[in-house]
Amino acid sequence: MSTVSEAAAARTGGCPVAHGDLSAERSPTGCPVSRRAADFDPFEDGYQQDPPEYVRWAREQEPVFYSPKLGYWVVTRFEDIKAIFRDNLTFSPSIALEKITPTGPEANAVLASYGFALNRTLVNEDEPAHMPRRRVLMDPFTPEALKHHEPMVRQLAREYVDRFIDDGRADLVDQMLWEVPLTVALHFLGVPEEDMDTLRQYSIAHTVNTWGRPKPEEQVAVAHAVGNFWQFAGKVLDKMRLNPDAPGWMPYGLRKQKEHPEVVTDSYLHSMMMAGIVAAHETTANATANAMKLLLQHPQAWRDICEDPGLISSAVEECLRHNGSVAAWRRLATKDVQVGGIDIPAGSKLLIVTSSANHDEAHFADADLFDIRRDNASDHLTFGYGSHQCMGKNLARMEMQIFLEEFTRRIPHMKIAEQQFSYVPNTSFRGPEHLWVEWDPAHNPERRDAALLEQQVPVRIGEPSKHAISRQMVVQSVTPVAEGVVKLRLATPDGRPVPRWTPGSHIDIECGSPELSRQYSLCGDPAEADVLEIAVLREEEGRGGSAWVHANVRPGDKLKVRGPRNHFHLDESRQRLILIAGGIGITPIAAMARRAKALGLDYEIHYSGRSRARMAFVDELAALHGERLHVYAKEEGLRCDLATLLATPREGTQVYACGPARMLDALEACCAAWPEDSLRVEHFESKLGTLDPSKEHAFEIELKDSGIVVPVPADRTVLDALRAANIDVQSDCEEGLCGSCEVRVLAGKVDHRDVVLTRSERDANARMMTCCSRACAGERLVLEL
Ligand code: FES
Repeated sequence: MSTVSEAAAARTGGCPVAHGDLSAERSPTGCPVSRRAADFDPFEDGYQQDPPEYVRWAREQEPVFYSPKLGYWVVTRFEDIKAIFRDNLTFSPSIALEKITPTGPEANAVLASYGFALNRTLVNEDEPAHMPRRRVLMDPFTPEALKHHEPMVRQLAREYVDRFIDDGRADLVDQMLWEVPLTVALHFLGVPEEDMDTLRQYSIAHTVNTWGRPKPEEQVAVAHAVGNFWQFAGKVLDKMRLNPDAPGWMPYGLRKQKEHPEVVTDSYLHSMMMAGIVAAHETTANATANAMKLLLQHPQAWRDICEDPGLISSAVEECLRHNGSVAAWRRLATKDVQVGGIDIPAGSKLLIVTSSANHDEAHFADADLFDIRRDNASDHLTFGYGSHQCMGKNLARMEMQIFLEEFTRRIPHMKIAEQQFSYVPNTSFRGPEHLWVEWDPAHNPERRDAALLEQQVPVRIGEPSKHAISRQMVVQSVTPVAEGVVKLRLATPDGRPVPRWTPGSHIDIECGSPELSRQYSLCGDPAEADVLEIAVLREEEGRGGSAWVHANVRPGDKLKVRGPRNHFHLDESRQRLILIAGGIGITPIAAMARRAKALGLDYEIHYSGRSRARMAFVDELAALHGERLHVYAKEEGLRCDLATLLATPREGTQVYACGPARMLDALEACCAAWPEDSLRVEHFESKLGTLDPSKEHAFEIELKDSGIVVPVPADRTVLDALRAANIDVQSDCEEGLCGSCEVRVLAGKVDHRDVVLTRSERDANARMMTCCSRACAGERLVLEL
């Protein structure tokens, strides 16, 4: 039978996938297995070197397939994997720590001789047992609690770099990245110093035992090491019982055991002691090694974070996305279920390749590109998602930031050395075994300036803020374009293209200090790939940003710029546009008009100002738009009669406006009779979400995916409360303007306070902006988080 007809037969049999070239194998459902699926072997070098690349074919053509070699169904796309994480009843985590390669009887006998009984841990436990334990044990992982560990991590990072800074060459893994996270993990757990060395030695054996494929002759040696690890972990725990008030997560667990003996059991603590060391240590060690390798292989990104350490937290997130230390995870189907349209029978084992999800083009634009300013990098699934999400994620993020800060400050001239990379063969934990770097110690910055040693960049505990994502831009020209208005052309320092933008976008410019950051709409042509243009009106009564620009900015200067971001999108599907600008409000309107012309839309521009001399771009607009432009200069006695202009509501017409507040208020009134949401205005600030605790009430939010309930006090936003509970939600403006912090609402009435949602979207009550909106009085919100 030809391949094509076999594939067709497979499809007619209910399988929606064109398998391509077929092998002789069949999946447990009787579906033929493609040759590529039959060849899939996660212990092969291809997977070890680059898991997302190894399964690219699957992500693109056969996103869920059966692997006869592994005996697992393999899942590769973002949405499917997130849905699996979300439903931990259908997809049990119980096999997450199961040996992926079953050991032989001899090794099993060795393990039994040590009384090895690794039981359920937070990672592989089903409900209803899992969440009560997680809730009892989670407090030491909150950002508030983690702050106390920062000085210890900084001190360790400094001491280890001190040891090799004058050598000019180091294997970062062997000389730092392996030991420091392990030491941090042991401190975090509360393990006494004298026991640390022994536990260090046992840790790697456990990884090979669980996720690797040791040869039969290696299995016995590994089993002895793991058995010793198990017994030693028990002894350390016994010692801790003598001093349960000591700091650390394990003593905390022992104290909680007294309050909830049925929830925190002896066997549970023993298993967590062992699993916790591995979980807290290896993932971070590997993640940092991957991150350093990636950054040094992208010298521009490395230079960017050396010049602007404020970018480190977003760079960490992109490293975790692009090349995290957890390549795949495992689940067991507890009932017949479909994943990505493929029938999976109850009892099937699933390998969910999270590293592949992180390269899914359907979720991450240009997914293979390494971009440390990527907006949605923190959507990655490297930490998992939902109720089993990695509890230590923020400890790992904190360590990685501190390590990167130490390297960028003290060895910015570091380069990656020529070498072959090798990986411990296993399906899940991934990082190079060695990472050789080199530099010229004569150029160590601290030899010139010892004060550098004392500098510190504040660590951001939790998900990075988009506010920190900035870039340097060079001022190409400063041109007066009207009385009191200058146009700035900004380019990248190395002449690379500027970020792509759409009409209505703005950028934030740091005007002399981080506290004085101001937003300016882009007014140029998005087709100009190497420059951004803004126009700045000198406002005597303003808050100082425009005065600073006028007084200080000269060609050749470098400015710190964030964005572009767009809160004022042009709906290109509208038949007709009315574009209204007052004064300097012409900037986004000019970009929209240019786009409307390019698209051949029906549009008109109404531009008001005090005098032509004070109105920017009038001639340019007239040349481009001809009679579509209507200019109203007050000094000529002309005035835009908004009431007449908007007297008749028109279906399919969208009104866009930017200008002084009184003009926008008048427009709101004029458009009251228009179809809902016909008027869109540019907001640069909103006070709607400003909290006045004396007028607010406290409420609760239930997080459906995470299985926890989070109280929101009267003096905190939902976003703050979520972050304090270790839940990642992106944010940007934190004023209800941009929509980045949106989450889905499953139940409860929301008191909307943003300017993002339209009236009908608010009424639908399906989404909310967590930075400003709250629950209506007496309501409890259920969110899809
Ligand atoms: Fe911008 Fe909430 S962060 S709307």
